[in-house]
Amino acid sequence: MISYKELGLVNTREMFAKAVKGGYAIPAFNFNNMEQLQAIIQASAETKSPVILQVSKGARNYANQTLLRYMAEGAVAYAKELGWKRPQIVLHLDHGDTYETCKSCVDMGFSSVMIDGSALPYAENVALTKKVVRYAHKYDVTVEAELGVLAGVEDEVSAEESHYTRPEEVFDFVKKTGCDSLAISIGTSHGAYKFRPEQCTRDPKTGKLVPPPLAFNVLKAIEKNLPGFPIVLHGSSSVPQEYVDMIDKYGGKMPNAVGIPEEQLRKAAKSAVCKINIDSDSRLAMTAAVRKVLAEKPGEFDPRKYLGPARDEMKKLYAEKIVNVLGSANKAR
Ligand code: G3H
Ligand code: 13P
Ligand code: ZN
Repeated sequence: MISYKELGLVNTREMFAKAVKGGYAIPAFNFNNMEQLQAIIQASAETKSPVILQVSKGARNYANQTLLRYMAEGAVAYAKELGWKRPQIVLHLDHGDTYETCKSCVDMGFSSVMIDGSALPYAENVALTKKVVRYAHKYDVTVEAELGVLAGVEDEVSAEESHYTRPEEVFDFVKKTGCDSLAISIGTSHGAYKFRPEQCTRDPKTGKLVPPPLAFNVLKAIEKNLPGFPIVLHGSSSVPQEYVDMIDKYGGKMPNAVGIPEEQLRKAAKSAVCKINIDSDSRLAMTAAVRKVLAEKPGEFDPRKYLGPARDEMKKLYAEKIVNVLGSANKAR
């Protein structure tokens, strides 16, 4: 049993309370490799933003859970080396699907876990979440739960269609489970293809897809039933057109890729939404930069020559999100 406190990590409790009160959101960035982690820490240290490092099932399969945990420990030291005196870094399990997975993360030094029982019938979601909360809270590890189902298909997360969170259920769920934050469904979804073209309209000037707005009325009703309670938005990548264009220009093909417009995320960040999950945008930044180098320099074979620019592009993206979308800069001085 390793306590995250010994690793210099923090849980989400105080961070979320401040974010809800202050009308901003904490970035939750997924990481699978060193370059992503370096970029996240560089951007967070530079902007002095609290940050959540997320580890998905896909990441654990790809990179190994133990290695990722040690990387997060290293990230705390790296942040200090970059001159961030009091880094506020959370190591979080993203979409934990069983009690055993959550327990093993708590035991190895994660400071926060998500138990995603959203696909289960309500009573089973309550029972599973409650069990995870009981264990995690013994070690002061915070727990995110989920109610409602997101649409979209991502490696390990899929749902045929989205079911918005029912505002009438949230109070009962939080009271019964004791969870620390709640992920909700209001129209976001995972991946780079968040909406089908027929769900969107077209910008008459550019011909690009314009997605339907998020269900802010549902968010409002949830906030009314759970005043001041930390709310989480998954599937919040914006799928920047510049990256899609770059990918297409340098040999890729991503027709009809579409995300959540930044102004909607800005609006959400000012509400009780205090954690915003972003993974796909970092994948796009990385892929665009790697494709550009390899297309322009076909003889290049030193990975540092294309992963380096990819890291720089991701850092730029993370900093831009922190400063211009989430509003979390200078909240961890
Ligand atoms: O929630 C989904 C995340 O983007 C993680 O995706 O399972 O492919 O790592 P992944
Ligand atoms: P995106 O696919 O929109 O980046 O969402 C990531 C996410 O929700 C991770 O849990
Ligand atoms: Zn998610």
